[in-house]
Amino acid sequence: MAVVKLGGSIISDKKKDFSYRGESVASLARAILSSGERTVVVHGGGAFGHPLAKRYHLSSRSASHSPEGVSETRRAMFDLNARICDSMTAEGLHPYTFSPFPLLTAAGTKGRKWLEQIVSAGLTPVTFGDVVHEDAGFRILSGDTIALLLSRSLRAARCVFVMDVDGILGPDGSVLREIDRRSAARLELSSSGDATGGIALKVREALKIASGGTEVAFVSGFNPHEFSKALKGLDFHGTIVKVPSLD
Ligand SMILES: Nc1ncnc2c1ncn2[C@@H]1O[C@H](COP(=O)(O)OP(=O)(O)OP(=O)(O)O)[C@@H](O)[C@H]1O
Ligand SMILES: [Mg+2]
Repeated sequence: MAVVKLGGSIISDKKKDFSYRGESVASLARAILSSGERTVVVHGGGAFGHPLAKRYHLSSRSASHSPEGVSETRRAMFDLNARICDSMTAEGLHPYTFSPFPLLTAAGTKGRKWLEQIVSAGLTPVTFGDVVHEDAGFRILSGDTIALLLSRSLRAARCVFVMDVDGILGPDGSVLREIDRRSAARLELSSSGDATGGIALKVREALKIASGGTEVAFVSGFNPHEFSKALKGLDFHGTIVKVPSLD
């Protein structure tokens, strides 16, 4: 099984609130369909989730107590999810939206069989970054963290992070062919303007996913051909995560 994280930057233009990149999602849906890979999709909040999260000070790092903020942010995420599912359906996939909540509990470990059965039935499970309640209050559960929980629960062969850039960029702006713990620590990873920890959290979760035995790829969603290769485990233009077994 493969996990595909559709980053907020590829499903929307994060500079334009509530913008949706239907063409990009459609081309990625076509690539998923034609790859024949058994795939579970998780998407980020992009221009739907982040503006509201920012307005109401919701974040993945601290608790919030704003009922209208929680409600409005979730409403926007369901709206984005509906658009993504419509684009997938128009390209011939059969999306099956599910809540990420069970992934946070012991029941999540049973999720593998359940998701496999849904995939075997011809559907593509889809979930998304959400607002969860914890003892201290409400917190954003990042799509990147869901990608980690899913990769573990499914013992996924691959996890592909799709973004608006060609991969993880080094200090000079060029794409890094691979990253490991050491090179990731050297990167200046900004987390500004992102309610979910930005690229820094993404790379941290990616290293955890890779250390669980899942191949991890970062690829541009503007190049569906490269995405398709990454999804199939072929050589592609982008970044792979290397975690030596005895590191
Ligand atoms: N060193 C870096 N390498 C790659 N991308 C970077 C780097 N620094 C910042 N970025 C930015 O991080 C973003 C990653 O996008 P991505 O779509 O994966 O998730 P996101 O911005 O966290 O959105 P969401 O949380 O909604 O999924 C890109 O838009 C990219 O411009
Ligand atoms: Mg993010």
